[in-house]
Amino acid sequence: MAGLLNGKITLVTGAASGIGRAAAIAFAREGAKVLVADMTEDAGRETVKLVKDAGGEATFVKCDVARAADAEALVAAAVKTYGRLDGAFNNAGVAGKIARTADDTEENFDRIMAVNLRGVWLCMKYEIQQMVKQGQGGAIVNTASAAGLVGSHGMPAYAASKHGVIGLTKTAALEYARAAIRINAVCPGVIDTAMVAGMVSAHPRLKDKLVGVEPIARMGRPSEIAEAVTWLLSDAASFVTGAAMPVDGGMIAQ
Ligand SMILES: NC(=O)c1ccc[n+]([C@@H]2O[C@H](COP(=O)([O-])OP(=O)(O)OC[C@H]3O[C@@H](n4cnc5c(N)ncnc54)[C@H](O)[C@@H]3O)[C@@H](O)[C@H]2O)c1
Repeated sequence: MAGLLNGKITLVTGAASGIGRAAAIAFAREGAKVLVADMTEDAGRETVKLVKDAGGEATFVKCDVARAADAEALVAAAVKTYGRLDGAFNNAGVAGKIARTADDTEENFDRIMAVNLRGVWLCMKYEIQQMVKQGQGGAIVNTASAAGLVGSHGMPAYAASKHGVIGLTKTAALEYARAAIRINAVCPGVIDTAMVAGMVSAHPRLKDKLVGVEPIARMGRPSEIAEAVTWLLSDAASFVTGAAMPVDGGMIAQ
């Protein structure tokens, strides 16, 4: 059966866990070959194993997206391993510490920006260079957040970084539309991953609050984001570019 991403060469950052891992598995199920990129090596290799156990093809690349040399090497690894790059999911991100605007630290602010915003830009820079060079277009999806569309109490830098991801996405989408490179963002609501578990363990009362903001009355599953991203990267979404698509259980509709 033809998959949505049949024959495509893709990469996923932050693929050792949560949404990125679910995306790597979904892309491979739909016929893509996947570069699994993350800072965390053991869990990244575990994602590769999960893909291979399900009959797919994947390779691990160790990568800190906040470092330009790593982002460049990641794209080079896609070309070296599989010959080209057709689709990229720039998903690596950190929540940082929870602190209101007046209490946040420069260290927390700078790290969140370096990974969530600068990292997405750096990855796009080298991905787009490669796609332009190939001359056959491509597709990129960046992970923003519902916090990229509305404010988020106690997460000033995170919300700013995710609003920034949407700005980067729209700008690059306009710049490369004529080159047939489609660039979109996905805006997850509250998703049941290690990131949210970490926030809840630091602030136990947060759990009810997080579920409470979801009209659907539960957290989302990583696979529910992965399905949307698979579609955005596929040719089925051929007229979609510059979009910031909420996949959020209705969170920002209220
Ligand atoms: N979970 C949610 O509720 C939620 C909601 C909206 C947006 N998001 C976003 O989704 C993305 C994935 O988050 P998740 O919930 O799956 O979290 P997660 O913590 O389960 O996974 C994040 C992964 O990113 C990796 N990573 C972190 N910094 C990195 C770096 N500098 N370079 C490479 N890899 C790095 C981590 O090692 C980890 O494997 C993030 O961008 C996050 O901001 C999550």
